[in-house]
Amino acid sequence: MNNEELFKQIVAHAKEYGFIFPSSEIYDGLAAVYDYAQYGSELKNNIKQYWWKAMVQMHENIVGIDSAIFMHPTIWKASGHVDAFNDPMIDNKDSKKRYRADVLIEDYIQKIEDKINKEVEKAKKRFENFDEALYRQTNQRVVEYQKKIDDTTARMAKCLNDNDLAGLKALIEELGIACPISGTKNWTDVRQFNLMFSTQIGSLSEGADTIYLRPETAQGIFVNFLNVYKTGRMKIPFGIAQIGKAFRNEIVARQFIFRMREFEQMEMQFFVRPGEELKWFSFWKEERMKWHQALGIPAENYRYHDHEKLAHYANAATDIEFKFPFGFKELEGIHSRTDYDLSQHEKYSGKKLRYFDAETNESYVPYVIETSIGVDRMFLAVFSHAYTEETLEDGSTRTVLRFPAKLAPVKVAILPLVKKDGMPEKAREVMDILKPEMMCQYDEKDAIGRRYRRQDAIGTPYCITVDSDTLNDNTVTIRERDTMKQYRVPIDNLLNELLPKLR
Ligand code: GAP
Repeated sequence: MNNEELFKQIVAHAKEYGFIFPSSEIYDGLAAVYDYAQYGSELKNNIKQYWWKAMVQMHENIVGIDSAIFMHPTIWKASGHVDAFNDPMIDNKDSKKRYRADVLIEDYIQKIEDKINKEVEKAKKRFENFDEALYRQTNQRVVEYQKKIDDTTARMAKCLNDNDLAGLKALIEELGIACPISGTKNWTDVRQFNLMFSTQIGSLSEGADTIYLRPETAQGIFVNFLNVYKTGRMKIPFGIAQIGKAFRNEIVARQFIFRMREFEQMEMQFFVRPGEELKWFSFWKEERMKWHQALGIPAENYRYHDHEKLAHYANAATDIEFKFPFGFKELEGIHSRTDYDLSQHEKYSGKKLRYFDAETNESYVPYVIETSIGVDRMFLAVFSHAYTEETLEDGSTRTVLRFPAKLAPVKVAILPLVKKDGMPEKAREVMDILKPEMMCQYDEKDAIGRRYRRQDAIGTPYCITVDSDTLNDNTVTIRERDTMKQYRVPIDNLLNELLPKLR
């Protein structure tokens, strides 16, 4: 199965087993908007809790807030989003379809990369067959393709950096890129498209004001900096964290929940002394990677991507990239944002946003390190890594979601072996002991093997079976999802046995 097919299966599994549904499906859906279903919302909540505990509960100098989605419109002027939160778009005049100009070029580059991969495969075969002349020819083609990729990438980056929209259009035309729908090259000019959604606050008769749905949660932290610092008696260095919805009118909606129009972020702004920001940037770069790896997903699935070209307000930035089924892509951003945001808000609000440092007897605008991760992207990382299809020793197959136990939506399934002889009643007793402590599911329908498979497919790490021996000796069988090993445990010991495994 290639990666594209695998990804399709993952998306289908997420729907079929109650993790993620397309939004408004009975009305044919809404592009790039999704609903989290019964198991999806559990998994998502567990991811958020895992982050909140690591960031807020485990750091004495970080507190959490929950600011409103609607904010004063001047905030977005101060932050630069009104003027510069844009993507370059282009329309095909025949199909009337709109594209992100840079994505059209990236897709073109991807096609050349696919060609390179094919050539490399051919070269391997020719090498094995000692077909030296043909091997050289293939290698030569790879070199040419690679040069084309490098030249195109460099030209695109230059156009984007220089805001050269005419240059982007010229590049699309020179490369001969056609609209995938109409097949024509009849393009409009490239224009900038602001990604913020706007709406009206107040009734129109009162002269309603335009406000924006926040495109990041970070600004809600910056504008509360002074309130939190004073009321929380915070001492630098300290952090403010929050989890919340963000909205972006993405032009290109694809790759499932990787790029959505309504999504959730988990962000933390860490306020430090000017001059100490790069030390703290390195600290958070490492700390966040440790957080990811503590989940048990092997390290080779993560990598840093340090930004060479920095935003004007940043003096260091890196992404933690994850190996999604469609390749390594950004999962989290860590940015050293200098004093840009607080200074801008000082300027636009006219209020002093300073910290008085009793140690140095100075008052200053703190510098900021930001860690920012999308909940939905984290969900996709965990879900796609967990999805496994296995062939068992007896030749049968099973689909299993190997979630880390602490993130699994259902921790334990309680299954009476048969639906009679007092087993359902006993199973309900076990359920009553466990359910105040963990998410449990009771299931008595179908043969036990089918019930195990159902639990595998939603990633339940433990199944507990109540059988005829249970009624005599008060023990149950625990079946582990990953190893499928089974062992007996007294009901009185169940909590002691399970709780440490789920922590
Ligand atoms: N406050 C900084 C900020 O918003 P960003 O790189 O634009 O930085 C941070 O976004 C994270 O939010 C990304 O690493 C990604 O995980 C997530 N994210 C951004 N846009 C998204 C989208 N359209 N859909 C889902 N997640 C998104």
